Amino acid sequence: MKIVGKSVPHESARGHVTGEALYTDDLLLRFPGALHAWPVVAPHAHALVRALDPSAALSEPGVVTILTGDDVPGEGDTGANRHDEPLFPAEVTYHSQPVAWVLGETLDAAQRGARRVSVEYEPLAAILTIDDAILAGSFHSPPLRMARGDVSVIESSQLSFEGELRIGGQEHFYLETQCAIAWLDESGGIAAHSSTQHPAETQEVIARVLGIPRNRVTVECLRMGGAFGGKEVQANPWAAIAALGASKTGRPVRVRLTRALDFALTGKRHPFQVRYAAGFTRDGQLEGVRIALYSDGGWSLDLSEPVLSRAMFHCDNAYLLPAAELTGLICRTHKTSQTAFRGFGGPQGMLAIEEILDQAARRLGLRPELVRERNFYREGDTTHYGQPVKDAGRIETIWRRLMESSRFAGRRNEVDEWNTRHPHLKRGLAITPVKFGISFTAAFFNQGAALVLIYRDGSVQVNHGGTEMGQGLHTKIRQIAAESLGLDPESVRVMSTRTDKIPNTSATAASAGTDLNGAAVADACSTLRSRLTDVAASLFGCDSAAVRFSEGLVFREGEAERAISFAKVCNTAYLQRVPLFAQGYYRTPGIQYNPQTGRGTPFHYFAYGAAVSEVEVDGFTGDYRLLRTDILEDVGDSVSPMVDRGQIEGGFIQGVGWLTLEELIWDAQGRLATAGASTYKLPSWTEVPDTFEVDFMPRAAEAGTIYGSKAVGEPPLMLAISVREAIRDAISAFGTGGPVELESPATPERVFFAVQRARAERELQINTAEADETVAGLLKEAQPR
Ligand code: MTE
Ligand code: MOS
Repeated sequence: MKIVGKSVPHESARGHVTGEALYTDDLLLRFPGALHAWPVVAPHAHALVRALDPSAALSEPGVVTILTGDDVPGEGDTGANRHDEPLFPAEVTYHSQPVAWVLGETLDAAQRGARRVSVEYEPLAAILTIDDAILAGSFHSPPLRMARGDVSVIESSQLSFEGELRIGGQEHFYLETQCAIAWLDESGGIAAHSSTQHPAETQEVIARVLGIPRNRVTVECLRMGGAFGGKEVQANPWAAIAALGASKTGRPVRVRLTRALDFALTGKRHPFQVRYAAGFTRDGQLEGVRIALYSDGGWSLDLSEPVLSRAMFHCDNAYLLPAAELTGLICRTHKTSQTAFRGFGGPQGMLAIEEILDQAARRLGLRPELVRERNFYREGDTTHYGQPVKDAGRIETIWRRLMESSRFAGRRNEVDEWNTRHPHLKRGLAITPVKFGISFTAAFFNQGAALVLIYRDGSVQVNHGGTEMGQGLHTKIRQIAAESLGLDPESVRVMSTRTDKIPNTSATAASAGTDLNGAAVADACSTLRSRLTDVAASLFGCDSAAVRFSEGLVFREGEAERAISFAKVCNTAYLQRVPLFAQGYYRTPGIQYNPQTGRGTPFHYFAYGAAVSEVEVDGFTGDYRLLRTDILEDVGDSVSPMVDRGQIEGGFIQGVGWLTLEELIWDAQGRLATAGASTYKLPSWTEVPDTFEVDFMPRAAEAGTIYGSKAVGEPPLMLAISVREAIRDAISAFGTGGPVELESPATPERVFFAVQRARAERELQINTAEADETVAGLLKEAQPR
């Protein structure tokens, strides 16, 4: 029986549906007497804190204490890389930033108390847009650069043009908002449950704030109700407040952000502004690009540097850039600190090149799919940062297969024909590829570790460094462990993630959770299996090479009928004093990158995919319907096809939300005006395409990965670019087929105005044609006979 590669339900699927799966805040029941924390938030985007008087709050019934900078025994800063995130700021740098926290016997008491803390502010001017930041020279870091070839070719190209694209951010909208519960353990150290993608870093930040060594802090994450990058570093401050509160009062402290607070306080996907110049040959061959990326980093640095560099690594998407000059700058604004979000800058980088290719195609009167195809990487090509594009041929293979299975050519004609009959509705069709680099670009993060325990009854506990956020990591790990040990998945239990089981873990991010931790678990299992093989060989009196493990049984090859149970082998091993636990470790081989030269091999491999989408746009409203999407994704040899399918479908729809619905609006005071589901439009069931075909590339085993599988967590999000391009294709059909300016997200409002512009162009063309005719007629009449 093969367990790896089998479609099994998510290990917590039943619990997710019944409500029995516990999340951090559910654990509050285990902490009677826990205090509740609520922040005192600043009503300015930028201001100095002149004075803070908690006396009225302290007299409020149920208020226990208030946390300010005076309570911090260690360093009052939770910044992950640069220490630039004061927990109790003297200078407020984004609207609603907490300046103090009130602890109450009840949440209500804490909230009442927070309202009665009197704070005196001196408001200052705030920078709220990328444009203002550029004008003010407000940046977090010096520019990042990557370059290759001679970009002066742009100016001498047959087609040369410039443009700008604004790309909106995105709220993570994980269903479970940020949450942590901390308490004093018996040793006087701190223990915490935290909804965090990176328990080791949450531990580090708690230790930093309390000024104690990390061995006195234990952080546990049972599971998250979604994270999407939003809990990669931004789970830390809330855990730090809970820990500080517990250490001050000696009582458990719970911090849970409400939806509105989570919206107001936590970072989002980075909005970007892209300025570019590009040169093409007449037949659509890209010759050179100059791209400047400006990201809106918000108030602190957070992960903005690696996000920006990943954007720059993905300005090629699936295309060869013969000459490229890329620069990137992180704008410092008085807004939430933008952070990791599924794709981690990759989506913004890819959107830039897809924009450029579509603009070129429509300027040249060529089909966008033709221009895309013409510029694909071929075997032997290297990226603009010098990495060979391994398996580049897969791009074209996927493309052709998908063109065929989606009946692209036939539907192209049908759409064109349909459009001639419908003046107020237009359909659009587009196909776009994805090539996404897998590995953390900071090489040291690319390690995974595991601790596997076997009990005498043959049951197994697996500990590893990854966290479960709904993506199915634990399901895959369970399959990998069961496969490696020849057990049913039911005999394997994957434990919650704890810093006292595996130290110094990486964030579960970069889609590498299974690659890193799965390989580490397989390593530990293989150690155990070889020990058990020797024990079994002595029981059978055979050579170790002849011992087989399958379905909870151990036997000598060819003698399955004389099999003994795995449990019996384990108990025998114990009696023979053979250890039944082992560590496992994995580090990704062969990756390196030098940011100084902008050269290297930052990625272990690339994940490939492509999508075809067809939409129908209503010219009266700008509203659109997604009629059909076909996806072909390269997941290698899938460890868990049902989980992977879920990741592809979910990632795609999340991308559709980012590109077409979800719009973050900050008002003139720097307050997030779209801070709830009533004003922030999320994709839902109605946005799922009427026809949705998802398929895996066959025979796609990847060499040098766990069971030949590939990462799947983030890459499918970028397949949603096909929807944006299909919408643009439909808009273009309202006009003359020429270029279409479209900011992102392509909300109905933006689409409506783009349709208006396209129509105006067509009018102009018709009028010009009529005028030409009239002039020609007059000239004819004026001819001397
Ligand atoms: N899927 C679900 N259901 N919930 C999530 O929070 N996060 C995504 C992706 N898929 C996420 C998800 C992100 S941002 C990443 S990096 C990966 O899962 C992380 O998990 P993996 O490395 O195990 O794929
Ligand atoms: Mo994912 S954005 O790498 O957490």
